[in-house]
Amino acid sequence: MIGKFLKRFMPRSLFGRATLILLVPVGTILLVMSIVFIQRLYENVTQQMTDGVANEIVFILKQANGANSIDEALVVAQEIAAPLGLQARLADGPVEDRNLWSDLSGRNVAATLHARVSAVLAVDLVSQEGTALVALATEHGEMVLEVPRTRVSARNPHQFLVLIGVTSILMVLIALLYLRGQVRPIRRLAAAASAFGKGRVVPYRPAGAAEVREAGQAFLQMRDRIERQIEQRTLLLSGVSHDLRTPLTRLRLALSLSDNSETHDMVRDVDEMQQMLDAFLDFARSDSLGEPERLDPIPLIEDAVAKAQRAGGNVTVGTLAQTGLMTLRAPAFDRAIGNLIGNAMRYAHRAQVGLTISENTIRIFVEDDGPGIPPELREAALKPFTRLDQSRNQDAGSGVGLGLAIAGDIARQHGGYIELSDSVELGGLSAALVLPR
Ligand SMILES: Nc1ncnc2c1ncn2[C@@H]1O[C@H](COP(=O)(O)OP(=O)(O)OP(=O)(O)O)[C@@H](O)[C@H]1O
Ligand SMILES: [Mg+2]
Repeated sequence: MIGKFLKRFMPRSLFGRATLILLVPVGTILLVMSIVFIQRLYENVTQQMTDGVANEIVFILKQANGANSIDEALVVAQEIAAPLGLQARLADGPVEDRNLWSDLSGRNVAATLHARVSAVLAVDLVSQEGTALVALATEHGEMVLEVPRTRVSARNPHQFLVLIGVTSILMVLIALLYLRGQVRPIRRLAAAASAFGKGRVVPYRPAGAAEVREAGQAFLQMRDRIERQIEQRTLLLSGVSHDLRTPLTRLRLALSLSDNSETHDMVRDVDEMQQMLDAFLDFARSDSLGEPERLDPIPLIEDAVAKAQRAGGNVTVGTLAQTGLMTLRAPAFDRAIGNLIGNAMRYAHRAQVGLTISENTIRIFVEDDGPGIPPELREAALKPFTRLDQSRNQDAGSGVGLGLAIAGDIARQHGGYIELSDSVELGGLSAALVLPR
C-alpha cells in the first residue's frame, strides 16, 4: 500500500529523487524549528515579559485607587508610571480589544493582561504603532496606560524565521544547481548508450563523478569493441563474397560457352551461388544502410508494397495507423519490410501489410496465408543461415536463410525487434517489425 503510493508519487528521474532527498529533511528541520521557535518565543517569552508589566499595572492601579479623585489618581499614576517607561492618561475615547491576525505575540499579550489584572477593560495593539493601549478601570473612572510594545514582547522576532527561511532557500537553490551538474554526465552517458543501441555513434567523453566516469569509460571500451567486431564481420563477409565472385563469373562464362544439356544444370547452380554471395554481401552491409532521418513510415511501407506488386506479388495494404514522423534509416527500413514481404510471397500466396500503434511501440506486420512457423521454430528462423525444414515448403525454392536475420539486425538498429506470430486474419505467419515510439 505505502510502497505502491511511493512508487506512484516518487519522481522518476534521478534529479527529481535527489531533489526530494534534499528538500524533505531541510523542510522538516525548518518546520520543527519554526514550531519550537514560535512556541518558545511568541508564547513563553511574551508571557514572561507581559507578566512583569502586569505586576507594574497592578501596583499603579493600587496607588491610583488610594487617591481621592480621578485627577489626583492620574497624577499619582503618572508619577509611578514615568520611571517605568509607561505613560498614564485619561481615556479620550472608548478603547477596544484590537489585534492584527498577523501579530502572533499580541494575542498572548492581551490574553495575559486580561487574565492577570481583572481591572483591565481592553487592550488595543493596533491604534498606536509600537504601543499597547491598556484601558484600566480605577475606582474613580477609566484611565489609559500606554505601554511600549518592547516592554511586553520581543522586538521583530520573525526576522529570525525569515533569515532562516531565506538562507535555506538559497542553500537549496545552490545545491540544486550543483546537483544538476552531477546528473548531467549520467544523462549524457544514457543518451550515448541509447543512441548506440539504435546503431548511431554519437560523440561522448566521460565526465562527472568518479563512478560515472568509470561507467563512461567502460561504455566507450564496449562500444569500440562492438564496432571493431561489426567491422571485422563486414570485412570478412564482403571479402569472401567479393573474392569468390570473380572465379564464379569466370566459371559461368566458361560454362555458357560450352552450352549443352549437362552444363545447363551447372549454370543454374552457379547462378544460385552468385545469388547467395549477393545475400552475404547484403547481410554484411546491413549495418550501414542509410543515415537516420525524421520520416513518416507510411509512404515507405506503401512503396515497399508497390514494389512487391510490380514483381507480381499478391500483396495488399491493410489498415495503416498514422504515426507521424519517426527516426528511421529509410533504405534499411525498406529492406526489412521488403524481406518480410519477400518471405510471404515465397512461402504463401497472399499477404497483407498493416501498421498498429500501442502506447510505447508501433508494429508493422506482414501477414500471409502460408503454412506459418510453429512457435518452437520461430527463434531459430530469426538466426542467420537457418532455413527451416525443406519439406514444409517444397515448391518455395531455396533462400540463404538471411532474410529474417537481416530484418532483425535492422530492427535492433532502430531499437526494436522482429516478432513472429500466427496471423489471425489469413491463417499463416504474421511477421512484425516492432519499433519504439
Ligand atoms: N512467411 C513465412 N511463412 C512460412 N515460413 C517462413 C516465412 N518466412 C520465413 N519462413 C521460414 O523461416 C526461414 C528463414 O527465413 P529467412 O527469410 O531468414 O530465410 P530464407 O527466406 O530461407 O532465405 P532468404 O530470405 O535469405 O532468401 C525460411 O527458410 C522459412 O522456412
Ligand atoms: Mg526470406
